[in-house]
Amino acid sequence: MASRPVRFFFEMSEWKKMSNVIAIDGPAASGKSTVARMLAERFGIAYVNTGSLYRAVAYAALRAGMEFSRLDRDFLAQLQFDYAPDENGAFTLRMNGVFLREELRSPEVAAGASAVATLPVVREALLDVQRSMAGERMIVMEGRDIGTVVFPDARYKFFVTATPEERARRRLAQSGEVAAGATLEEVAREIAARDKQDSERKTAPLKPAEDAIRIDTTGRTIAEVVEMIAAYVK
Ligand code: DC
Repeated sequence: MASRPVRFFFEMSEWKKMSNVIAIDGPAASGKSTVARMLAERFGIAYVNTGSLYRAVAYAALRAGMEFSRLDRDFLAQLQFDYAPDENGAFTLRMNGVFLREELRSPEVAAGASAVATLPVVREALLDVQRSMAGERMIVMEGRDIGTVVFPDARYKFFVTATPEERARRRLAQSGEVAAGATLEEVAREIAARDKQDSERKTAPLKPAEDAIRIDTTGRTIAEVVEMIAAYVK
């Protein structure tokens, strides 16, 4: 009995030490963005899509005609990022005060994002932006390395996957992200190439955190996955 107050105190200090983040990581087209957005809506908290940061860097480089391999601190320092509610109230990325949306969804920007995400100078520059988002209020943050690198102390960690076939089907059903007239095989190849690049890079590769709860979304509806995650978070 005597040990109980001590244990209780320990639990309280553990609670305080963690970041108020629900981390949702996983490969391309695993359904994690939709799940993360719906989860945030359900709990009435903010949702941050960190892939949009890497996409924005690729977009800025493409627009400036700059080779990705030449990206350096000076170029990145000119890019100011924040997330703010857009006119529909959706938490959206701004680069130098301008909301970025459809600009980030093209196949070129998607492939570019995966390429710039291999560069340590880019990952380092984006760490502060992501870490500054955590505070008193709980947030849902979705990406590839949220539970492993950005917030290893996140209060909840999930790793969302689906079979390559299912992910290719989902990606094909989304508009904008794939080239017009692309076949299922082509989309599957593009996803496999991104998986390889994201999980084999040296800095912060895509992988589940050891303490992440893994969820295979194959054959499950978005609503079912949101329910599963919400049950853990409650
Ligand atoms: O989630 P997404 O498809 O928008 O991400 C685009 C690319 O950005 C992805 O291929 C890898 C990279 N990324 C990353 O390296 N780390 C993150 N936390 C989020 C995305």
